[in-house]
Amino acid sequence: MNATVLIVDDEPAQRRLLESHLGKMGYRVLVASDGEEAIHLLQSEKGREVTALVLDLIMPGLDGMGTLGRMKELGLQRPTIVQTAKAGIDTVVSAMRAGATDFCVKPVSFERLKISLANAIKLDAMEHAVRKVERSKAGTFSLSDMIANSPAMEQALSLGKRAAASTIPVLIEGESGTGKEVLARAIHGAGDRSGKPLVTVNCGALPETLAESILFGHEKGAFTGATSSHVGKFKEADGGTLFLDEVGELSPELQVKLLRAIQEGEIDPVGGRSTVKTDFRLISATNRDMIDLVTQGGFREDLFYRINVFPIRLPALRRRKEDIAALVSHFIASLCLEQGRRNITGIRSDALNMLAAYDWPGNIRQLENAIFRAIVLCDGDELTIGDFPQIAQATATAIPEIAERRSGERIDVGQAPPLEAQQPLGTLHMLAQSGKPRSLAQIEEDAVRFAISHHKGRMTAVARSLGIGRSTLYRKLKEYDIDAEDAAVADSALVSDS
Ligand SMILES: Nc1ncnc2c1ncn2[C@@H]1O[C@H](COP(=O)(O)OP(=O)(O)OP(=O)(O)O)[C@@H](O)[C@H]1O
Ligand SMILES: [Mg+2]
Repeated sequence: MNATVLIVDDEPAQRRLLESHLGKMGYRVLVASDGEEAIHLLQSEKGREVTALVLDLIMPGLDGMGTLGRMKELGLQRPTIVQTAKAGIDTVVSAMRAGATDFCVKPVSFERLKISLANAIKLDAMEHAVRKVERSKAGTFSLSDMIANSPAMEQALSLGKRAAASTIPVLIEGESGTGKEVLARAIHGAGDRSGKPLVTVNCGALPETLAESILFGHEKGAFTGATSSHVGKFKEADGGTLFLDEVGELSPELQVKLLRAIQEGEIDPVGGRSTVKTDFRLISATNRDMIDLVTQGGFREDLFYRINVFPIRLPALRRRKEDIAALVSHFIASLCLEQGRRNITGIRSDALNMLAAYDWPGNIRQLENAIFRAIVLCDGDELTIGDFPQIAQATATAIPEIAERRSGERIDVGQAPPLEAQQPLGTLHMLAQSGKPRSLAQIEEDAVRFAISHHKGRMTAVARSLGIGRSTLYRKLKEYDIDAEDAAVADSALVSDS
């Protein structure tokens, strides 16, 4: 584990204590002595490595709440554990609403902090690399921004357009990373409530004890620590749209309350004497099989029919490979712009073929992550197979990867190249120039040279790709008189000899 945690605390002694404990937990640690410094650091080059924050709420200057606010404004959000001196429920509720992931009451129990950090980081891991990009785009996504070259996606978008024209409750289903949230935003943005708030509730991340108050609000004095009243998410969404993300994770108690809110259009704030009217348009999303969940008793059937009036299923990326090339061009263009890497103009065709052959279990989000990493790794002016080490490794075990690097054909950003997704990656030369089949040894030598160049000389990876042990690999180097260092830097164009 080498995640980096930023400690923001004005007390030097507390900083040192946290620093030493987090260090022992295996984290790399950065420190800031107030909010301004933390924001400054997050905006710097170094700030990119920050995976999570431990943030003190009470500090001179820009305090904890102020820092959370600035982070949101500037699109710098990270999982953040706030430390608070008093366990006032109001403080905690406000901090969570301002974007905190969890809280620890001072004096901080390090065991609690350890679990809390690990959870926050785990939840966040997949999104880490693209968070900034995603946030900046989040508000601006419209149905026409969504890439949909495949018939399956076109159909999903045309359903989205129809749904946007009314206030019918929509349920968006799809695997993780297929674009459920962007579709929800686009539907909201295309409807006549677009000027009104879109309030998102992540049903999977509601802290159990505060869930009701967060959703339905509470009155002053409703429970110990409730020193002021608080408007819940359902009321916040009044006139606009309520987006219930991961709706399948709602607890049975909250399901009952949600059903009432939808049926009656009213809610009961915690400790409130009267009910409150609210008028929201409901969009829900889930990556669970809801029918399964209902059958197994995990989700109320009556509620299911209420939220599932207009279902839209987003297909997994592996079922719409026609979209990959366009998505890749789109991400290269937008991420290069963002990262100030305007020199990168495209992707080599062999690399694109490799991306198209991969299955993308994490769907579009994973693809976006992969492009982001590739842009950071890329030395030249176009992305190559070597810039996608993880994908290369994953596909290498599945497909004999002798890619057609020689062709070096490049594809311009903005112009989606034609692509046959299922096409194998390149060809191995079977015939010598004489027109006769080449020997097994010659073909094997090519494969070894290619793998060394592909893995930039990392022999363990080479051996793994080729499915042989390291000692066998070294024997073959000797046998074919291959100099590993030369082969590593050689263009992996396969030499057709004899
Ligand atoms: N059709 C699309 N065109 C362009 N970008 C897209 C498209 N669909 C999704 N994205 C991008 O892919 C990423 C993941 O999308 P999103 O967060 O909406 O997925 P999700 O289904 O809500 O995932 P999860 O289940 O993990 O919450 C985002 O960065 C989004 O901008
Ligand atoms: Mg989502």
